Amino acid sequence: MAFEHDTVLLEQTIDALDVIPHGVYVDCTLGGAGHAKYLLSQLNAQGHLYAFDQDIEAIRNAEQVLADEIAAGKVTLIHDNFRNIASALSKQGVKYVAGIYYDLGVSSPQLDHGERGFSYRAEAPLDMRMDQSASLTAHEIVNTWDFNDLLRIISRYGEERFAKRIARAIERERDNQSIETTTQLAEIVKEAIPAATRRTGGHPAKRTFQAIRIAVNDELGAIEESVEAGLKLLSVGGRMSVISFHSLEDRMVKQLFKEASATPELPPNLPVLPAEFEPEYQVINRKPVVASDEELEQNHRARSAKLRVIERVTFKE
Ligand SMILES: C[S@@+](CC[C@H](N)C(=O)[O-])C[C@H]1O[C@@H](n2cnc3c(N)ncnc32)[C@H](O)[C@@H]1O
Repeated sequence: MAFEHDTVLLEQTIDALDVIPHGVYVDCTLGGAGHAKYLLSQLNAQGHLYAFDQDIEAIRNAEQVLADEIAAGKVTLIHDNFRNIASALSKQGVKYVAGIYYDLGVSSPQLDHGERGFSYRAEAPLDMRMDQSASLTAHEIVNTWDFNDLLRIISRYGEERFAKRIARAIERERDNQSIETTTQLAEIVKEAIPAATRRTGGHPAKRTFQAIRIAVNDELGAIEESVEAGLKLLSVGGRMSVISFHSLEDRMVKQLFKEASATPELPPNLPVLPAEFEPEYQVINRKPVVASDEELEQNHRARSAKLRVIERVTFKE
C-alpha cells in the first residue's frame, strides 16, 4: 500500500537547526521521511542522520525512499521508540549530536491504512499501536480498563467534557458484548453525548480516539523521557526542534524547554551573573512557529502544528 505523508513545516523545522553539513543529526519520527530527505540534502559525506521510527512500515518505506542516502552511508534507520534515544545512539557509538527533531503524532498512512485501527471512519479491529510488536492495544483498554481509568484518559488525554458519559457507555456496552471494532466504538461515543452537541466540534469520537491512542502508545511519557534525554545529547550550539499537534503535547514541550532554560535561584545582590548560574539552554522562539496560509491551504494537518526550538548554549558537568 502507498505510504504517502505530506510533511508539515518542512523548511521551518530543519532550517531552525542551522544545519552544519558535517554534523550528526537525529530524526526521532521518520514517518514518510520528508524532513529526513530535506535534511540529508544539506549534509556532506561526513554528516550523518540517525532516524527513529517505532512503526516497521515507516522503516520499510524509508529503506526504499532513502536508498541512495543509505547506500552512501549517510543515514542509519533505527526501529525503536524514541524514548530509547540515548541507549540506541550509545550502541551506535554516538555521544553528542548537532541537532534533533521531532514531528510528533501519527503519520497519514497510520490513519489512512484503516486496518491499523486509528481511524473512527474505517471499520477495523481496535488496535492503534504505532509499534506493531507492542502488547497493549486499544481493544484491551476499551474492554478491560475499569471505569476510573477510562474516565481519566478520556478526560485528560481527550480533553473531552463528556468523558463520564462516554466511560459509562463503554462499560454498559461491554457488559453485553465485547467492543471489537473502531466503528462500534465510534457509535457508542456518538450515542453517549448529548444530541445537540453532536453537530459541533468535528466528529464526536475524535477526542476519545485521540485519548485512547495516546494511552496505547504512552505518547506523553515517551515525549517527556525522550526530550529530557535528547537535550543532554546536544553539543554546544546544537538545537532541538519539536512540532506538536495538540495542546497536551505542546504544553509538555513548552514546559520541558522552560525548565531546561530557567535561570537557577540566585544568591541576592549579585552584580553580574556568574557563569555557573547561566542556563545551559536557550529557547529560540518564545512563540511557536505555525504554518503559513499557503501551507494551510494545501495540508489541513498543518492546522494545529506548532514548532518550538531550543539551543544548548553551554555545557556543565
Ligand atoms: C507525523 S509522522 C512523521 C512524518 C515525517 N516527519 C515526514 O516528513 O514524513 C510521526 C511518525 O513518528 C512515529 N512515532 C511517533 N511516536 C514515536 C515514538 N515514541 N518512537 C518512535 N517513533 C514514533 C510514528 O510512527 C510516525 O511514523
